Amino acid sequence: MSRNFWVGGNWKMNGDKKVIEGIVEFLKAGPLDPAVEVVVGVPAIYLEYAKNLLPQSVAVAAQNCYKVSKGAFTGEISPAMISDIGVKWVILGHSERRHVFGENNELVAEKVAHALDSGLHVVACIGEKLEEREGGKTEEVVFHQTKAIADKIKDWSKVVIAYEPVWAIGTGKTATPQQAQEVHKKLREWLSQHVSDKVASETRIVYGGSVTGANCVELSKEPDIDGFLVGGASLKPEFVQIVNARK
Ligand code: G3P
Repeated sequence: MSRNFWVGGNWKMNGDKKVIEGIVEFLKAGPLDPAVEVVVGVPAIYLEYAKNLLPQSVAVAAQNCYKVSKGAFTGEISPAMISDIGVKWVILGHSERRHVFGENNELVAEKVAHALDSGLHVVACIGEKLEEREGGKTEEVVFHQTKAIADKIKDWSKVVIAYEPVWAIGTGKTATPQQAQEVHKKLREWLSQHVSDKVASETRIVYGGSVTGANCVELSKEPDIDGFLVGGASLKPEFVQIVNARK
């Protein structure tokens, strides 16, 4: 089964209108491989601004949302609001949401389910911490994170799983292609055993954690790595190289 390559950027809490205009310039210049699905995660306040400047070939994603459509949740945004401005993607369960803002597996799963029920595409992030890897618990952790989501959703057709080992995020310590492939393969096997062979073969599992123009090609050669979720490098022109990693 060939899954079309997916490359996401996650700008996190970075940028302003000028920076966004610069990113738009290098994305417009590209050239971006038209076979690759490109989605950039934009700070909520700039979603509409970025969406209106970006070329049609690049979609935008919110970086988070809440688990209900409206109500007394000061500061939150809902999938309904994201859709209302024509944005079709949301990143959920990012390790910073989990380990900086205390989101547990249950809350992440509820958010994923509600976002999907609201018609959004979801990038569902999972990944282990360094001490969990060093303790031999990587599979246990990522399976647990995935199970929480699988227990709450039926339709996986709008889900991209992003495996982002926490120890590789923002550290420059990228997982080796072998390390990433091993976890991606295990995740796909888990999906096959606990969801279905169809979901396992069709769901894109992308890698995130210090992906750069220098390491993206080797990583992209692994059979179960279907793309990337890129932080720091998505703010730089090298993001174009990462989109084109399989060219
Ligand atoms: O969501 C992607 C992000 O967590 C990876 O960050 O800077 O290591 O590419 P970075």
